[in-house]
Amino acid sequence: MALEFSERVRRIPVYPAAAAYALPEDVALLASNESPYPPPPGVIEAVTKVLGGLNRYPDPTNAELRRALSNRYEVPPERIAIGNGSCDILLAAGEALLEPGAEFVYAWPSFSVYPHVAAASGARAITVPLNDRDEHDLDAMAAEITVATRLVIVCNPNNPTSTAVPAEAVAEFVKRVPRHVCVIVDEAYCEFNTLDDPDTTLDLLRRHSNVVLLRTFSKVYGLCGLRVGFGLCGSEEFVTAVNQVRQPFYCNAAAQAAAIEALRHQDEVNSRVERTIVARLEVEDGLRELGIEPAESQANFCWLHLPVADGDDPGEIEARVVRGLSDRGVLVRAGAALGRAGAMRVTYGTTEQNARFLRELGALL
Ligand SMILES: Cc1ncc(COP(=O)(O)O)c(C=O)c1O
Repeated sequence: MALEFSERVRRIPVYPAAAAYALPEDVALLASNESPYPPPPGVIEAVTKVLGGLNRYPDPTNAELRRALSNRYEVPPERIAIGNGSCDILLAAGEALLEPGAEFVYAWPSFSVYPHVAAASGARAITVPLNDRDEHDLDAMAAEITVATRLVIVCNPNNPTSTAVPAEAVAEFVKRVPRHVCVIVDEAYCEFNTLDDPDTTLDLLRRHSNVVLLRTFSKVYGLCGLRVGFGLCGSEEFVTAVNQVRQPFYCNAAAQAAAIEALRHQDEVNSRVERTIVARLEVEDGLRELGIEPAESQANFCWLHLPVADGDDPGEIEARVVRGLSDRGVLVRAGAALGRAGAMRVTYGTTEQNARFLRELGALL
């Protein structure tokens, strides 16, 4: 007899994981918005040092990491939430803020974990379509806020479409949101955004106690294998609430050590951002040569709509191209799984990987 699961579990969508992980070495992994660069030697050394002490639980207060983040961002440590990846903070925020009868507003297509947050809580998901440039429509989102709204997320830059709205527009939007509604600005890719300095939004925290800037060590810092994310918060109450709904030791010792050390390598961060911007320009030029105009990327990946002739099914074309790329050793994300059939999300890799992607895409088209 099959197990009988809760209604809640039946509602939750299954996360669209990337293709299998046991892959040959020469595959270009451009499907998960990871960094193509390994951690700096200093970070590997810091992780190695803590391994001898793994018989002890990690510091459940993440004190040293929160102090390091506090020094870096000038946000008091008690207003910094840490998570087992920033996804952990997102899920905990859903659990702490949402319940049946509550509403949760977010754009779509956006990060695939947001529908999970809504379904897990039983709250009503209000999804607001992106505009025709694949950007957040903040006016339309503001219009959806009601007395039932508990949580709004602005993903900036947006995954999967790579686009960003200016920090000034986010500030104007936040002003329109009532104080009792939590606004999470998901900034997983903010370091790659050339519209604004990533520190610009910190100012929101000084003026709005309901704002959380959600960030991660998974992207520009290249530590997604260890899972560590953080929320810079406008008030302590968000930190207290997300800690209430989680197990105490959500951030492991190696992750804490790596993140503390990674913060000391801002020169490496800057160099990665520069290399990503070069990759962005190379891939954009290559796509244009193939007759494809990608969305305006402010992230470490691009989003493109495949050319479709009249009468063609965009979903079929996308599936054929994604499968063809995979057969040729280039893994990218199909748009259908991310909310838009006929599109594709491609992470920028090394120069060689990007050239390989463009070559194989050209051959398939
Ligand atoms: C927009 C966005 N937010 C959050 C995350 C979660 O990152 P992590 O849990 O690795 O910190 C991702 C990961 O892809 C993302 O794209």
